[in-house]
Amino acid sequence: MLGNFTYCNPTKLYFGDDSLKYLNDELPKYGKNVVLVYGGGSIKKNGLYDDVVSILKNCGKTVSEISGVMPNPTLAKLYEGVEIARKANADLILAVGGGSVCDYSKAVAVSVHCDEDPWEKYYVRFEEPTCRIVPVGCVLTMSGTGSEMNAGSVITNSETKQKIGHVFASEEVMPRFSVLNPKYTLTLPKYQMVAGIYDIFNHICEQYFSGDDDNTSDYISEGLMRSVVHSSRIANGNPQDYEARSNIMWTATWALNTLVAKGKTTDWMVHMLGQAVGGYTNATHGMTLAAVSLAYYRHIMPYGPAKFVRFAKNVWNVNGKGKTDEQIANEGLAAMESWMKELGLVMNISDLGVTGDMIEGIADVTLVMDGGYKVLSRDEIVEVLKESM
Ligand code: NZQ
Ligand code: ZN
Repeated sequence: MLGNFTYCNPTKLYFGDDSLKYLNDELPKYGKNVVLVYGGGSIKKNGLYDDVVSILKNCGKTVSEISGVMPNPTLAKLYEGVEIARKANADLILAVGGGSVCDYSKAVAVSVHCDEDPWEKYYVRFEEPTCRIVPVGCVLTMSGTGSEMNAGSVITNSETKQKIGHVFASEEVMPRFSVLNPKYTLTLPKYQMVAGIYDIFNHICEQYFSGDDDNTSDYISEGLMRSVVHSSRIANGNPQDYEARSNIMWTATWALNTLVAKGKTTDWMVHMLGQAVGGYTNATHGMTLAAVSLAYYRHIMPYGPAKFVRFAKNVWNVNGKGKTDEQIANEGLAAMESWMKELGLVMNISDLGVTGDMIEGIADVTLVMDGGYKVLSRDEIVEVLKESM
């Protein structure tokens, strides 16, 4: 384990099929005015909306609503929500939904008392909040992003086609509490379920594929990856399998709540490429990652071969006997590819709506990170995107 770090995660988790009742313990800790945030209506269809509203009422809360938060929430929607939360004099923002609703709620939370333009301050200049932050609580309905226990918030500026994530340093941006009930994820369409599964897996890869030191984080990561792959196969066969869905929900949280990043420089280039594709196409987040991953990993493999060999052996059970390191590493990626195909993930960006004339524009909005095995040049970004078509 190289490097020095501080570790603190203040989010309290309530996990399990009866966990919603703990809202009754959390709500009295905050003032009267609650802003309930949700998406396009799935929580109304499955009854969760009624259950949450009834607890809010029983706790004597005055409830305002921000509804219709779309997947890949937009800046225009953020401005709209900030006005609602200001008028409501929000004491708590309660996010009920997937990563988009959680991310959006955090963006509202840091903007309500902010005098500056939140896009410029948080997503262009990457500054930390200097104002009071409204507390956020979360009832999660989709596994994938880890937003339930982290300080990340991704917003899309549809005008400039930029999809940008800010991982805030301030612990106050993290949800104060999150209710994780795997039962709620059972109504997810399969497309979203598998996209979320790949998002989890890739979050772990993004942190794993960096550094050469002997680091506990890598051993934890391998365990998490094996668990996701195992449970994903069960859930893919039977999406109603509660045990598999509960393990998927729990690994999603641990994949991106800062734990496995400890002591790591971390890569994040698949996410930067995927987000750039998302800014152009508004495609589902996990699918954008799946569509660029193989081209990217095959491109960087020569720069970090030892970790790719380890990945092949420890995550995919590749038998290295009599093989070169390159063969072993390639077998690992091939095993990952066949698992991805088995799940039915989108394997190339043209299937997400990318056309040849968009490649340069997508490359323009791809942020370059320097924590992985290779800092990509602009030409390499274009090459990986073309390979992903
Ligand atoms: O809007 P509703 O009607 O609720 O439908 C949603 C949405 O259409 C539906 N859904 C969610 N739970 C459901 C359900 N449908 C039926 N039953 C349920 N239980 O699923 C669709 C997708 O939801 P969304 O919240 O967009 O998915 P996800 O959780 O993947 O979140 C994606 C967003 O999170 C960002 C992504 O970029 C994207 O904007 N990310 C946030 C991160 C973070 N905070 O750290 C990291 C990630 O890498 C990611 O970038
Ligand atoms: Zn992600």
